[in-house]
Amino acid sequence: MITIAVSRGRLLDQSVEILARAGFLMPSNLGCHLTLLLPEQKVKFIFTKDFDTPLYVEYGAADLGICGKDVLLERKKIDIYEIADLGYGNCQIVVAGPEKYGNFREFPSIKVATKYPNIASDYFISQEIPFELIKLSGSVELACLSGLAEVIVDIVNTGQTLKENELTILEIICSSSARLIVNRASYALKLTEIEESKGRLINASHRKEI
Ligand code: PRP
Repeated sequence: MITIAVSRGRLLDQSVEILARAGFLMPSNLGCHLTLLLPEQKVKFIFTKDFDTPLYVEYGAADLGICGKDVLLERKKIDIYEIADLGYGNCQIVVAGPEKYGNFREFPSIKVATKYPNIASDYFISQEIPFELIKLSGSVELACLSGLAEVIVDIVNTGQTLKENELTILEIICSSSARLIVNRASYALKLTEIEESKGRLINASHRKEI
């Protein structure tokens, strides 16, 4: 039996589609279920909050996990192996804000709101831009609209949310997509099952291994 942690957030629909294409018997509607046991396929799924998925894998509550690269970059000290880029859930991590702050690099200090404090700090420090960080839990666009912050660091997929809030991408930090991660001990103890699941998921998402 292997346990796979699947992030419940923005990747969920595509993850369920890829898992079904990979031959796992996924229900058409997960509802509020937090777990799904497929005894005949010797697999258990647990559905986790995006930022918690790497923790379930690190501590061995799950052998495998599917989460965004953005989450792995933010939780940078997590002790897991990243074994495949599944190639969906593509987005960019950006500095965004009102167009008038396009010259934010010239400011004596810039207020940055984000739910990615590590990614944001690392970026502003590496770019030698003085900044003040405000950690939020979500809906970070509101920070710009309300005057809480001048810019945000956030993910952009379609760009619709920024557009609707009259914000624009000021700088691109990096890209993100769905990744397959594995617990270190599981990778040794359940190598055959894990390699089999990995192969099925990679084939289903039509992507090469990394
Ligand atoms: C993410 C992100 C943006 C939005 C970007 O939010 O924080 O708000 O998606 O997507 P788009 O470019 O396709 O519009 P999420 O839905 O994860 O919720 P949150 O705002 O509560 O973090």
